[in-house]
Amino acid sequence: MTLLEKYKDLLPVNSKTPIISLGEGFTPLIETKHLGRMFGIDLFLKYEGTNPTGSFKDRGMVMAIAKALEEGAKSVICASTGNTSASAAAYAAAFDLKAVVVIPAGKIAMGKLAQAMIYGAKVIQVDGNFDDCLNIVKKVSEDYPVVLVNSLNPNRLEGQKTAAFEIVDILGRSPDYHFLPVGNAGNITAYWMGYTQYHKGGKISFLPRMMGFQAEGAAPIVRGHVVEKPETVATAIRIGNPASWKKAEKARDESHGIIDMVSDEEILNAQRMIASEEGIFCEPASASSVAGIVKMAKKGLFRGGEVVVATLTGNGLKDPDAVLNATPNIVTIPNDVKALVKEVGF
Ligand code: F0G
Repeated sequence: MTLLEKYKDLLPVNSKTPIISLGEGFTPLIETKHLGRMFGIDLFLKYEGTNPTGSFKDRGMVMAIAKALEEGAKSVICASTGNTSASAAAYAAAFDLKAVVVIPAGKIAMGKLAQAMIYGAKVIQVDGNFDDCLNIVKKVSEDYPVVLVNSLNPNRLEGQKTAAFEIVDILGRSPDYHFLPVGNAGNITAYWMGYTQYHKGGKISFLPRMMGFQAEGAAPIVRGHVVEKPETVATAIRIGNPASWKKAEKARDESHGIIDMVSDEEILNAQRMIASEEGIFCEPASASSVAGIVKMAKKGLFRGGEVVVATLTGNGLKDPDAVLNATPNIVTIPNDVKALVKEVGF
């Protein structure tokens, strides 16, 4: 069964909506082996890196593309820090739409750029940041016959809310806290939509606190003003003026949660910890969720035994540079058994 089929009654799916799929959704909710114990909590990682293009964007994109097809669209456009463009390009390729993706020049992780190109999208770099790119594509989509598939398109958020459904379907309850990265602020909005929809439908008896984390150099919501020159190693969330700013604040306030920030060092430490403790390789932006847990644990948030979910939004293979740039050189030995034994210390 596909994602759109499974949740069709809770999505904008009608008899005219094509039920398309590249195998998105149904991602694992992984119970941590070590990290949860470190903080005295039951910690689950919702690993979105197993989606077809390696990020959570595929959930929203399948819905946005299905609705674009339903409306007879011929082409789609988006601005992106990398993952949205990879996803839009893939779905457009498979379902016969033209894709135009507009990205900040030189600020996209290598794997994501390769994805957009191989899927055959028209890739255009802008001498500016993501916020500049979004402003341009918004304007173009208003004036020309092309569908915007950024999260300003409500169908994107509709699709992305299915991650919250899956979590509840597996846990049989709502988590006490849900940690996730915040960039353009669509995903925190989408999760909150999902949880509240399940709550209204009587599937859960209480709602989680939404705990969003921006990168320190790109934390407009935390700072309360637009950041003109956002900067962070987590390029996926290098955003200074999030499109869903107000909706994210609403999710935060209604859920009695927080939107806070973590430093690049905290993000990279968390990324390494998720890999070395749990065997899961996520991209830097994704790790800001766990960096947030570390930060809040230090502040004494947890009393013990809380059920906590952290979303790992994207696959680490998309951005190998982020790891390699921060890793010491690999040892080289002569072609010799003894040299290997000596080096390993057997
Ligand atoms: N994590 C990853 C890996 C992302 O790619 C993004 C956003 C986020 C977190 C933040 O999610 O924007 O809904 O708050 N990436 C967008 C893109 C902006 O263009 O791929 P958000």
